[in-house]
Order: sequence, then C-alpha cells, then structure tokens
Amino acid sequence: MKLLVVGSGGREHALVWKLAQSPRVTKVYCAPGNPGIAKLAECVSIGVNDFAALAELVQREGIDLTVIGPEDPLLQGIVDDFEERGLAVFGPRKAAAIIEGSKTFAKDLMEKYGIPTGAYRSFTDYEQALDYVRQQGAPIVIKADGLAAGKGVTVAFSLEEAEDALKSMMLEGVFGEAGARVVVEEYLEGEEMTILSFVDGETVVPMVPSQDHKPVFDGDKGPNTGGMGTYSPVPHMDDALIQQAIETIIKPTARAMVKEGRPFRGILYTGLIITDKGPKVIEYNARFGDPETQVVLPRLESDLADIFQAVLEGRLADCAVEWKKEAAVCVIMASQGYPGSYPKGKVIKGLPENTEELMVFHAGTAEKDGEIVTAGGRVLGVTSIGENLYEAQDKAYDAILTISFEGAHYRKDIGDKALRQAASRAKR
Ligand code: AMP
Ligand code: GLY
Repeated sequence: MKLLVVGSGGREHALVWKLAQSPRVTKVYCAPGNPGIAKLAECVSIGVNDFAALAELVQREGIDLTVIGPEDPLLQGIVDDFEERGLAVFGPRKAAAIIEGSKTFAKDLMEKYGIPTGAYRSFTDYEQALDYVRQQGAPIVIKADGLAAGKGVTVAFSLEEAEDALKSMMLEGVFGEAGARVVVEEYLEGEEMTILSFVDGETVVPMVPSQDHKPVFDGDKGPNTGGMGTYSPVPHMDDALIQQAIETIIKPTARAMVKEGRPFRGILYTGLIITDKGPKVIEYNARFGDPETQVVLPRLESDLADIFQAVLEGRLADCAVEWKKEAAVCVIMASQGYPGSYPKGKVIKGLPENTEELMVFHAGTAEKDGEIVTAGGRVLGVTSIGENLYEAQDKAYDAILTISFEGAHYRKDIGDKALRQAASRAKR
C-alpha cells in the first residue's frame, strides 16, 4: 500500500513516522514534507493547497490513500475534490471541517445540542461587540471567527486588553477576513486537556488524552503559540472525567454533525477546559493536533494505516485500537522571537539519530548547502517515550541539551503540571 501525507510540520513527521512502521505500507510520499520527513518518505515539492498537482501525483504513482495533515486544505475542500476524482482520502469534507473553520458555527452547534461550553455572543459590528464586552467585564475571551494559525484568541484579564483585541481584529483587520466576525466568550477557569478521536459519522474512537502548553514562556506566561509542548497520558485527569468528556461532548458532537447533514469523517480534535462543573469545550479542530500528535501516535500500539482504512470502509466500530502504557513528552524548540517575527536559516547542530525512544520531529526546518537550518517558528519537537512521565521528560530534556541553533527557545516545564499533581498527591 502506498500512502501520501499532505503537510510539512511536526504533526506530519509523526504521521509519516507511524505510518511507515505498518507492514502493509510499502512506500510513503509527503507533500511538501521537510528534511526530517525525507529520511522516511519521498518528499515531493507540491503545496498543500495545490489539489490538481497533488491528485496528479497520486494518479501517476498509484498511491492508494492520501492523508491530510493541516486544516487549510480541508477547509478549502481537498477531500471533496479528491472524492470527485475517485481518489481515496482521509479527512473531513469541507461541510464538516467548518467545525474548525468557523468558531460561530462551532458555538451555535454546541448551544443547539446542549454540549457544555462557555457562554458567548458572536459579532460583526465593532460597537456592539464593545458594548457587550464592557457589560460582561474582564476576564473575558475574544476569538477571531476564522483561522488564525492558533493566534486568533486573546484571553483578556483587563477591559483594556479586551478592547485592544477587538480593535485589532475588527477595525485594523490583523487576521484579515478571519477577524471580521468575533466570538466573545466567557472566561473558563481550569486545566486544559486535548482528546483526539477517530470519527466516522456517529462512530467515535477516542485516542489517549494529552495536554498542550500554548503560552510561549514557562508557567504559562506570554502570548499564545501553536503549542510549545505536550505530554500524554494526563494522569491527574482520571478515567471517570475522561469518560464524562466522551459521553457529554465527543459523542454528542459526532451525532450533532450527522443530524446537521454534515457527517464528520476523520480526526476530531476537542480542546477542553476542566472546570469545577466538568469538562467544557474551548475549541474543535478538524484534524490531528500539533504537537499533540507527536505524543499520541508514539503511544499507539495498533497499525495506523489499518485504522485509516477501517474508517474509509465504514468499519471503525469493529476496529481494535490499542494503546501502550508508556508515557510520551514532546518539547518544542522554537526560533527566537516566535510567536512574533523570527529569523530563519540558523544552522541546527547536534541533531541525534532517532531511536525507538527518542524522536526529533522536524517542524520548521530546511536543508541548505548540506546542512539542516531553521525555517519556521516552531523548529523541532524533541519527543521521548519512557516508562512514566518522569523518565520521558528527562530523556527529552537530555536530548535537547545536545541540540543547538542560535536563539533557540524552549519551555523548561513541559509535563510539570502532571508531575506537580503527582507530588502533591504523594504528600497527602
Ligand atoms: P484556542 O485557539 O481556541 O485553543 O485558544 C487558545 C487558548 O486560549 C486555549 O488553549 C486556552 O488556553 C485559551 N482559551 C480559549 N478559550 C478560553 C476560555 N473560554 N476561557 C479561558 N481560556 C480560554
Ligand atoms: N496544538 C493545538 C492545535 O493543533 O491546534
């Protein structure tokens, strides 16, 4: 079986890494890929939104299945396009991907079907948004309706911050069309957790939970990024809580999409906040998370190609999806200045060889004159597997000490929330 993975980040590196292990997979292609992926797959330099060129590649090489990594092509309708051409493709159609593409759609869906989330209002008029924000007071959350590369959310702890966010989204257009409509949302207090699920219509198979670290600095300080690191499992979130999230949020979401005539087939990402009233949704995505995938797939015992195939053939309900008990930690090494502007082309030194327990997933890298250089904000996802989170964390940070590039920045506390909870439990 030949596969094509579309995308070029750490998530796609993890997907290629896992798929290449399948005994059924004879060859993996990646478009456009990156130098890390090139060690496992044939990278073809086609952009993720060039559907015609991607389809031509699939037909020319006799590729059996295409897997879409990022949200952009999904929202542009790559799955509809491939299906019209009679090509097998894994991911939601455009009509279902809107669950990520419009926060207003997602909030309205949750309201209509009673799925727990924060109270909200959606606005296209700046003055009305401003009135509502002043009436509600801080803390309050302002979200651009459309895609904004993970940066369209401001958690405002003062009215001034909230007003600035409204102004830059609605009047100054910093996110373009994505910010023409905003969602103003109740601030929810609690720890975050991500659950990715394989979904085929009403059939939902949740993956193991993980926790992302969005803010750029230690202790969750500084602006939000696409994600600075992840770990899995999330041991302080017990099974009952995870089950509650599945029963009250994930399954009802899949059912709601079917009822709306937008059946979801692919990976549904639910970003949750665990409030004192239980789990509530802060966001949906229509794809694997980045960097959640980098810790979830190393824990997957089963063959990922088999699961994708089962979804496409409507057999997900009968498919055994097994997990390893080992823990995984992924620490992102980012360019200086990220999530603001950052330099590119810095030479990366000391990259270790990947082993079964240590994988350096490339996110924003390029090859120049025979050297690997930085080419993005998030550069590498240094990922380790261990018997438990302590061991996985140690191994990931030990590996980071060997890797260097000018201005490299990483958080030093990925996984600490879980370990702190474990320590305080032990003391009690
Ligand atoms: P999002 O892009 O929707 O995941 O939001 C980015 C980050 O903003 C989340 O990971 C949370 O840390 C935070 N956030 C989003 N919505 C809320 C909310 N209603 N209350 C508190 N924090 C939020
Ligand atoms: N890590 C957050 C995301 O993939 O959207």
